[in-house]
Amino acid sequence: MRVPGELKDRSSVAIVINERKPMRTYHIPTIVLLTALVVIASLLNSCSDLKSVQDLPTASSGALQVHDAGWLDTAASNFHGTILKQAQYNLSECATCHSKQFTGGTSGVACSKCHQYYPHPAGFSASTSHPQYLYNQNYPLGQCKACHGATYAGGGNANLSCMKSGCHVDANNVSKSPEACNACHGNFKAAANDLPSAAPPKDILGNTATTARGVGAHQIHLVSGAVGKTVKCQECHTIPTQLSSPGHLGTLPAEVVFNDTLARLTTGGGTSVPKPSYDPSTLKCSNTFCHGNWKVRKATSTSQFVFADSVMVGANDSPAWTGGSAAATCGTCHGIPPKGHLALAVSSCGTCHVGVVDNNGHIVDKTKHGNGKINVFGQEYAF
Ligand code: HEC
Ligand code: HEC
Ligand code: HEC
Ligand code: HEC
Ligand code: HEC
Ligand code: HEC
Ligand code: HEC
Repeated sequence: MRVPGELKDRSSVAIVINERKPMRTYHIPTIVLLTALVVIASLLNSCSDLKSVQDLPTASSGALQVHDAGWLDTAASNFHGTILKQAQYNLSECATCHSKQFTGGTSGVACSKCHQYYPHPAGFSASTSHPQYLYNQNYPLGQCKACHGATYAGGGNANLSCMKSGCHVDANNVSKSPEACNACHGNFKAAANDLPSAAPPKDILGNTATTARGVGAHQIHLVSGAVGKTVKCQECHTIPTQLSSPGHLGTLPAEVVFNDTLARLTTGGGTSVPKPSYDPSTLKCSNTFCHGNWKVRKATSTSQFVFADSVMVGANDSPAWTGGSAAATCGTCHGIPPKGHLALAVSSCGTCHVGVVDNNGHIVDKTKHGNGKINVFGQEYAF
């Protein structure tokens, strides 16, 4: 016989999820929940670190339970994991009592009590800092797949796609994998197959300012080419062919490697062989052809009249990656005109270096400047 306000027995408040009825029809008075909370909280202290099946509290502990017997028994047909699987991991009903983030809510039982990562470990913030979390943990993507699906499209223990609208999609709302080259760095809204857009901004930690080392002078080299020819990714990095390529995912700073690059161009008839390097402590680049490590010798020139010395040389500048436009103003990579060149006014450069600069000293064709070729008198030839 039942007195109003008396605690109900377990079976009368059990939630039968596989019947797929709305939870609301099983009204549980607040007092039941609160009482259950107190009881459970004290009982559950003992297994706060519990992450293995053996240590689980069982229904036989005698605790007042909202869920049916067997809810925690992996062998039972109404084990919560089995029920959830059958319901395609629809967790929305669980969220009503265990809270949206599954941290406990009115039930007072956080899923993370037993599931080390349910749904996400401490330090994880879904909307803002999961990139930072991923980086800190060295990209435990297997974990994410277990709950968000093998291709991140849903399925798995949470059946929540990473590629739904507003999340991993490009500017045209086309789904893109969280493993797309421009997901973790570069332009997040660019199409998945747009490789140049994988360059920062944004950088790994989300920075977009050119004063951040991960961003620096990427765009000026790759896209706009402030004063000269654009540069390719592989001139400064080893490009991973896949996410798991050796040397790719790791600890910042990123590796700068001068592979297939104009930075190594040999000039001066073989006498000038630049050995470009990048110093991650000063963020400076040194000894690159591009920034002025080059030579033209009078002895082998067909235009000896233009020499004021036996060689003409660039300024071999060491620009800072985060130095902004000041790091590449006119005169930093070579004098105007270069050392060893007949001293001539800026207004005259365009007369001989026609098609490269105009008579105001402005570059008129960036593809001919910093392209590794001598451009003079309308001709183009090797150093
Ligand atoms: C109506 C509220 C409510 C809903 C809905 C609900 N729970 Fe609970 N759950 C509780 C309360 C209260 C407890 C603690 C008391 C108990 O164990 O019965 C709890 C405890 C649990 C426990 C731990 C049991 C233990 O003994 O430690 C698990 C596991 C659990 N719930 C899973 C789920 C899952 C999975 C869902 C969704 C399918 C869900 N719950 C939906 C209220 C709810
Ligand atoms: C008292 C401990 C405990 C709590 C609390 C708990 N679980 Fe579980 N859960 C388990 C155990 C044990 C398993 C079985 C693990 C295994 O088979 O590897 C499991 C399995 C599952 C599975 C099945 C995974 C699969 O696909 O095999 C899901 C989904 C799940 N739990 C969801 C939840 C949710 C959601 C909550 C919180 C509302 C929760 N669990 C709270 C102990 C718990
Ligand atoms: C144990 C299951 C589980 C694991 C493992 C897991 N997730 Fe989730 N994830 C969920 C659930 C459930 C939700 C929905 C609840 C929420 O928003 O917290 C979710 C939500 C998210 C959201 C927010 C989506 C939204 O709609 O706001 C992001 C982002 C996310 N997860 C990323 C990750 C990443 C990255 C990993 C791998 C480190 C990961 N998850 C691992 C279960 C999981
Ligand atoms: C002119 C040389 C240069 C080119 C070209 C270049 N990078 Fe970089 N990259 C750098 C430098 C320098 C850093 C900063 C290293 C450091 O932090 O010390 C960097 C850093 C990075 C980082 C790490 C960002 C972070 O968060 O720290 C990524 C990712 C990256 N580059 C991708 C690319 C991609 C993709 C391309 C081509 C689309 C590209 N880079 C082209 C020089 C270059
Ligand atoms: C899951 C996140 C993630 C994805 C997806 C990703 N990267 Fe990266 N990438 C990183 C991190 C983190 C770094 C910097 C870590 C380091 O340098 O060790 C990095 C660095 C780079 C760099 C700088 C050089 C280097 O290796 O340090 C290049 C170039 C690069 N990635 C290209 C790519 C390309 C191409 C793809 C697609 C095949 C890709 N990335 C996909 C996380 C990612
Ligand atoms: C980032 C380094 C850099 C900066 C800054 C720079 N130059 Fe150059 N410049 C070069 C290099 C490298 C060459 C060698 C030839 C080549 O590769 O095109 C060169 C060659 C030239 C030439 C010879 C024509 C040619 O292309 O062979 C002229 C003229 C010239 N620069 C003018 C200027 C003027 C004017 C400015 C400022 C608006 C300027 N440069 C700024 C790197 C630079
Ligand atoms: C009278 C014609 C003339 C004028 C004016 C002139 N140059 Fe040159 N310059 C040359 C010639 C010819 C060479 C190439 C010598 C060779 O190939 O041996 C040269 C070589 C150079 C080089 C190195 C090789 C290359 O082409 O990249 C640079 C840089 C350069 N000039 C910059 C300038 C600048 C800057 C001005 C203006 C201040 C200027 N020059 C004015 C004729 C001229």
